[in-house]
Amino acid sequence: MRLSHLLLSFVCLLPGAVLAQQPIVIKFSHVVAVDTPKGQAALRFKELAEKASQGKVKVEVFPNSQLYKDKEELEALQLGAVQMLAPSLAKFGPLGVKEYEVFDLPYIFPNKATLTAVMDGKIGQDLMQKLESKGIKGLAYWDNGFKIMSANKPLRSVADFKGLKMRIQASKVLDAQMRVLGANPQVLAFSEVYQALGNGLVDGTENPPSNMYTQKMHEVQKHLTVSNHGYLGYAVIVNKKFWDGLPADIRKILEKAMADATTYERAIAQRDNELALDAIKKSGKTAIYQQTPAEAAEWKKAMLPVHKEMEGRIGADLIKAIGQEAARNK
Ligand code: LMR
Repeated sequence: MRLSHLLLSFVCLLPGAVLAQQPIVIKFSHVVAVDTPKGQAALRFKELAEKASQGKVKVEVFPNSQLYKDKEELEALQLGAVQMLAPSLAKFGPLGVKEYEVFDLPYIFPNKATLTAVMDGKIGQDLMQKLESKGIKGLAYWDNGFKIMSANKPLRSVADFKGLKMRIQASKVLDAQMRVLGANPQVLAFSEVYQALGNGLVDGTENPPSNMYTQKMHEVQKHLTVSNHGYLGYAVIVNKKFWDGLPADIRKILEKAMADATTYERAIAQRDNELALDAIKKSGKTAIYQQTPAEAAEWKKAMLPVHKEMEGRIGADLIKAIGQEAARNK
């Protein structure tokens, strides 16, 4: 028997597992509960990517800061310890892409149409381009709607914020926002907020209802004000070296799975936040206050100067470009 035939017969005897390619593993880490828009979309991406790749790709989702909490996760991504994240747009400043904090400017988005136009248009794509020099590839923007404020005292007038220690994400814009309200901003990892509110380390915070409810913040906050004063969204990102190293056909499959997961995520975000606010109301643990137009106007008047104050950090042209987009999407 020729050597080649002998080798071939030997190889064919190898157990199937050895012959089958090992799957490409994507570790997808995030900091929110599974039952949130981002948590559900991460699972939808997993389902779509594994099915479309016929098992060539395996997505391992690690929710609720199980693997890494806020700051750690970006470092882990750059080191290649995880392949995918979806951090809040408020968390890219420490990475050096401070322009993303434009999304944190209070009252910058008058409606979702403006937001979508910014995310899916040139502005959003140019911002994603800025990630690449940091070894990060941006794949999509996910939504989590507008933020409300909470504390253990009623928050009706701006004066009510005076001296309050308010937890924020690591964003200089949010720091400035709380300071113009007379509060003391405290940056804390998302996974530490519930405990910090419970033990009085901080007095209050801001977040969309879905994050407040799923982290049980309403159980340690006596008052919520439905202000919708600011926005919270995400950039879904991958380690660029990992992404560029994928076979082209696999990359194409993942891009389609991500596009479909993004459509799904944006479709559930608003509803999830409405349901979370209803659930908080039903819990009876916290008082939910709807602002009067006069109160909303007072808050907006107090917070708008942050736009000018932050021009040097974010770029006046970028803020102006979003204003023009808002005018087009009135
Ligand atoms: C927060 O830290 O409050 C949020 O960015 C958490 C999240 O990922 O929605």
